[in-house]
Formats: sequence, C-alpha cells, structure tokens
Amino acid sequence: RLDRIPHPPRRVPWLGDVLGVSVRTPVQDSMAIGRRLGPVFRRKVLGKEIVFAWGADVVADLCDESRFAKHVGLGVANLRPVAGDGLFTAYNHEPNWQLAHDILAPAFGRTAMAAYHPLMLGVARRLVERWDASERAGEAVDVPGDMTRLTLETIARTGFGHDFGSFERDRPHPFVTAMVGSLTFAQRRNVVPPPLLPLVLPRAARRNAADIAYLERTVDEVVRARRAAGVAGDGNSDGDGDLLDRMLATAHPVTGEGLSDENIRRQVITFLVAGHETTSGALSFALHYLALHPDIAARARAEADRIWPDGAEPSYEQVAKARYLRRVLDESLRLWPTAPAFSREALADTELAGGHLVRRGGWALVLTLMLHRDPAVWGDRADDFDPDRFLPEAVRARPAHVFKPFGTGARACIGRQFALHEAVLVLGLLLRRYDLHPDPGYRLRVGERLTLMPAGLTLHLTRRPDRP
Ligand code: HEM
Repeated sequence: RLDRIPHPPRRVPWLGDVLGVSVRTPVQDSMAIGRRLGPVFRRKVLGKEIVFAWGADVVADLCDESRFAKHVGLGVANLRPVAGDGLFTAYNHEPNWQLAHDILAPAFGRTAMAAYHPLMLGVARRLVERWDASERAGEAVDVPGDMTRLTLETIARTGFGHDFGSFERDRPHPFVTAMVGSLTFAQRRNVVPPPLLPLVLPRAARRNAADIAYLERTVDEVVRARRAAGVAGDGNSDGDGDLLDRMLATAHPVTGEGLSDENIRRQVITFLVAGHETTSGALSFALHYLALHPDIAARARAEADRIWPDGAEPSYEQVAKARYLRRVLDESLRLWPTAPAFSREALADTELAGGHLVRRGGWALVLTLMLHRDPAVWGDRADDFDPDRFLPEAVRARPAHVFKPFGTGARACIGRQFALHEAVLVLGLLLRRYDLHPDPGYRLRVGERLTLMPAGLTLHLTRRPDRP
C-alpha cells in the first residue's frame, strides 16, 4: 500500500521528487529526505516509485531471509552491462550465482587469507615508500587516490597475480578511470529512462561503451596471461591457487561443472571492482577521522605498538588482535558505509513493521547510510565519530541488523574478511609510521558513484621519530 508511505511534499509532473536534490548526490539527498519523512518513505523518479527503509525494525524484517532476498535493482541492475551474471549482479535464480559462490567461497577461507597476508604487506610497503617520499618533500598526500592505488594493487595481486603498476603512475590507472566512469554512468541511469539515454547523454553513453570495452580488454589480457603461464592446482582444496586459478581450474565438487569463459570475464571484472573500490573509500574515511581525532589515533597507535613491538611487521594472526583499530574501521563504516544501500524483495506477500504490506516481488531499498545514524539506536550524537560504540558490550546491547555495511544474508559481501584484514593491517602500519595532520581548510565532501568516497581529501604527514 504505497499511499500510506510518505513522500516529499512537492512533486514535479513527469520528473517526480526532484526539487532540492542533485543527480550527483542521490544517496545523501535520500538521507536528508529520510530524516524528515521517517523510517519508511518513498521518492518518485521519472514515474518510478522507490521505497526507502532505514528504521531498525523495518530493516530487521527486510533482513529476514525466510521472507526477503536480494533484489537486483537500481544501481546494481544498471551494472549488468558491465558485470552480467557475475556474483554481485547475478539474479538469485541464475545458476551461475550458486556455482561461482561455491567455487570462490574457499578463496576467502582462513588458509587462503593467510596466504594473501604477505602479498598484502608487499603492496602496503609500496604505499609506505610513496608516502615517505611525499613526507620528505613536505607534500600533502592524496588520500583517496593513494588508497585506490593500494586496494587495486592488493586485489589484483592476491586475486589474479597481476600488477597494474599504480604506484609508479602519477595519474590513476586507466582501469580505475574506466571503472569510475561505469559506476557514475550506472548511477545516472537511475534518473534517465534507458531508451532515452543515447539522446539525453549521448557522449556519456558512448564513453560508457568505451569504458566497458576497456575493462573487458584488460581482464581478457589478465586471463590470457594466466592461461599462458599455467593454471595452478585443481582448485579443489582450501589452499589451492588464487581467485583466477580457482575459476579456471575448479569443477563443482558435486556437479563437476566449471565456469564458462564469458562468466569468468564477468567475475574478474566484478572482483577487480568490488574488491577495491569500497575498501579504498573505507580506508580514506578512517584516515580522515583519525587525522581529526589525535586522541583516537594515539589509542590506535598504542595498540599497534603493543601488538607489533620493535617495528616488526605484523603477522597474519596479529592483525586480528588489533581490536581498537577494527572499531575505528567499523565506526568509519557506520558513518560512511561505502556501499550505502542494498535492495531486498519479498519472497511472498508479507507485512513489514509499521503495518506496511508488501506483495511478492515487491522491494525496498535499505538506506544503510541512514540506518547507521538512526538516533533511536545510536543516540542523539549519532553523527559523531566514536569507535567505542563498537565495544563488545555496546554491540551486545543493540538490536540485530542495525549495522549492515556488508549487506545481509546469502548475498552479503563475500570479501568482508578480506577487506577488514587489509584495512586494519594498513591503518596499523600507517599510524605507527606517521602522524597525520588534516588540511585546516578541508570540510568533508562525499562524492557518489554508487559507492561513497571523500572528495579532495589530502593529509600532511610527519614521520614518527622513534620508528626505524
Ligand atoms: C557484496 C560491501 C569489500 C566482493 C557486497 C554487498 C555489500 C558489500 C553491501 C551486498 C550488496 C547487495 O546486497 O546488493 C562491501 C564493503 C567493502 C567490500 C563496504 C569494503 C569495505 C569487498 C571485497 C571484495 C568484495 C574486498 C572481494 C575481494 C563482493 C562480492 C559481492 C559483494 C563478489 C557479491 C556477493 C554475492 O552476491 O554473492 N559487498 N564490500 N567486496 N562484495 Fe563486497
């Protein structure tokens, strides 16, 4: 029953709820509207009514896997031309989802993760070399740019044995430029009906086709090189090869089926994009808050010094011990969940908290960004940065399903542990080596391209004198 759900008061004929909002910031605008309209609201965009939910009880219902599942809609559906039936964009009923999930899940198990650790450290060392040079030259560092270099190289190296050479370039790698282009275009497609795209955004549509072609050429080359070099293992045990080896070599343990070449291309694009873009944003927001809060940075640094004494490099097991750093990261992901929303659809007719009836197939967008700031759950100072919200006792005192940066259920993020390990490791290394100083003139601006990223964030560094 849509008519019971509030919407912004002034609707423009044809265009819908567009007053006071920008095509560049749909998620932040939705958050502002959500604050005014309450935990379930709707926005009309070009004749389409979109229902948003952020209240804890409604979201808990939407996260109930017996009644709801992932909905491939809006931005995710708009990525289908790029990622097809790859894991992130696959419809629930597509057989390649289960097949790829079963083949790739062991690549995120403990044994596999421990094998990635030294590779992650190797990439982190390259970042440190770059930051040392900036520090010596007295130059500020470009935080989102450098975090993107780091996370792209990390997923490329650990997942595909590939080196994009990001640290040797001044400008972003063309893969990143093409990816940002495709993500931005997918976001714009929410506000332009597909048949009109070539008319309304002709240059952007041509550019997008070129971006997708570039992404495909890049991954085809990565796959070709691996086939030429030889594929490791039979992919059927926990320690066997990287993501690409598994895709090329693994047959499903029960059916014996493998992934097609076309599907592998989709998965490689998916992992190269999903595997770095959101982690890069999460690291950038965390560094922003650490620079603004020297007291919190000092606590995190003291923990890192305690766990990894004498300047030694952290081992795989030690990273998991950095509980305070993990809370810093969780709190950054609470305030700015870099994947800021996800959609859920009803498996059968059902009712949501508040008495909203949903028909089978009906769907709503969970606005994670606002769920994470609900004052009823997070208190009056919900917009403030405070890692102690993630102390174990505080977490236990909150209801389930109020912190969802990695989505929910069967289609939740497969790379969660990967991202957390990488981010905690890098934050620890950076804090031990540098004091972070914010640019006094900087006010946080958040860019949107389906994902969230702090725009124009730079920091000044000084080497800590007591470090080798
Ligand atoms: C799915 C967030 C890092 C690969 C998701 C979803 C979210 C998410 C919210 C669910 C989307 C939906 O329901 O529509 C994040 C965040 C990350 C992160 C915030 C970093 C801080 C990673 C990494 C990888 C990855 C490092 C790979 C190495 C994927 C894949 C899916 C996914 C393949 C689709 C899973 C499926 O549907 O089976 N992620 N992610 N993500 N993520 Fe992540």
